[in-house]
Amino acid sequence: MGEFDLVIRNARCATAAEVFEADIGIRDGRIAALAKGLPAGREEIDAAGRWVLPGGVDGHCHLDQPMSDGSAMADDFLSGTRSAACGGTTTVLPFACQFKGQSLRDAVEDYHRRAGDKATIDYAFHLIVSDPTPDVLERELPELIREGYTSFKIYMTYDDLKLDDRQIIDVLAVAREEGAMVMVHAENTDCIAWLTERLLKAGKTAPRYHADARPMLVEREATHRAISFAELVDVPILIVHVSGREAIEQIQWAQNNGLRIYGETCPQYLFLTADDLGLEDDEHRHGAKCICSPPPRDKANQQVVWDGLESGVFQVFSSDHAPFKFGGPTGKLAAGPDASFDQIPNGIPGLETRLPLLFSHGVLAGRIDINQFVALTSTNVAKMYGLYPRKGSIGIGADADLVIWDTGLHRHIRNDDLHHEVDYTPYEGIPVSAWPAVTLSRGRVVWRDGRYVGEAGHGQFLRCELPTPARPKVRGARS
Ligand code: URP
Ligand code: ZN
Ligand code: ZN
Repeated sequence: MGEFDLVIRNARCATAAEVFEADIGIRDGRIAALAKGLPAGREEIDAAGRWVLPGGVDGHCHLDQPMSDGSAMADDFLSGTRSAACGGTTTVLPFACQFKGQSLRDAVEDYHRRAGDKATIDYAFHLIVSDPTPDVLERELPELIREGYTSFKIYMTYDDLKLDDRQIIDVLAVAREEGAMVMVHAENTDCIAWLTERLLKAGKTAPRYHADARPMLVEREATHRAISFAELVDVPILIVHVSGREAIEQIQWAQNNGLRIYGETCPQYLFLTADDLGLEDDEHRHGAKCICSPPPRDKANQQVVWDGLESGVFQVFSSDHAPFKFGGPTGKLAAGPDASFDQIPNGIPGLETRLPLLFSHGVLAGRIDINQFVALTSTNVAKMYGLYPRKGSIGIGADADLVIWDTGLHRHIRNDDLHHEVDYTPYEGIPVSAWPAVTLSRGRVVWRDGRYVGEAGHGQFLRCELPTPARPKVRGARS
């Protein structure tokens, strides 16, 4: 046994299934040994009995994604991955987005150019399929899936991205054929258009009306429809960014009936409500900072989302980091200082705060246990997208993507302390009692004692394996 590059001593490790104490020996970026009393490494870190967990895998974030409305994302692959690392995430999966009329291959190549050698942690791509032409369905998509782009998102809303029902079914059929995973943004676009028109005609343009234009029933109906299509085609799907009770009930019904329907939720549905979208007379449009879709709901729905995390309705907890500055010419008010709610780009930042928020208010508050935390934020995500066990685990041969956690802290989230390029965080002032002390990406320290010490270009592109055999179990699922 050769010398270790690094030994983490006295680690209290947790995976999705177990808790154990060990020293972790790391060689060539991978975990090479797990045992007590390992020989000295060239470097040593004493975890001193603190939790050491697999690095977070953020299965839903948007980085440097081109926009069509004059806005621009504030985070590219450098600032986005830097921010992720400082919050304990070691793998991100952003989206190579196809514009209508564009080939999927072109979208993927463009996205690789954007990533360049900027990433500080590893990354894989989902695809966004917005134009499922016969060539996309019959040639491009199957080819790309086999090349390691094994998951894609489809939209039931947004004029520039949405698919109609027939297109959705066609895309699901390709996913079934190839074994790919489809992520569905479930909101009924015509209901939203009808409500938006009425609100604007009545002069109701402030950010808070975003929530009125996208009520829960809009999400519930689309979730039900997506589930029906998945049942028709007999293919698993993941309903992403689920906001509250009515959509959860649909997912639970499907799971109880043996359908392979997975659920993802995000911090905004635990920590924000529609009240954060501001008041009717929000003169400076500050409520725009919390505009995302589906919108945050109310306290009662927050509780139902917590219950869903606890009971296992959700398999995945992602950030849906979609970073727009509030100020500036390409920010939330790119359409002007009086932009109506429907002109404000959708999305909020959250890569860095995702894990500390869930650790503090989930694990340390006794709502979920440490194994559920690891499953929701890392292991299930890695399994779902074909990165497990390289990512999402603490085991011999796995990448040494590890986080040593400080707990028992008394601090509050402040945007000034974060490492993204966004000029606000929607979570400003929320207390947290846990934060990563050290983040390691393939054995390299990228965050330590409050300092970012990573390096652009360290992050590598990951080809995903087809994940079918290793998908997280849904209780009652057919397979
Ligand atoms: O409002 C959101 N969620 N923005 C990001 C894009 C998406 O739909 O996930
Ligand atoms: Zn979405
Ligand atoms: Zn998103």
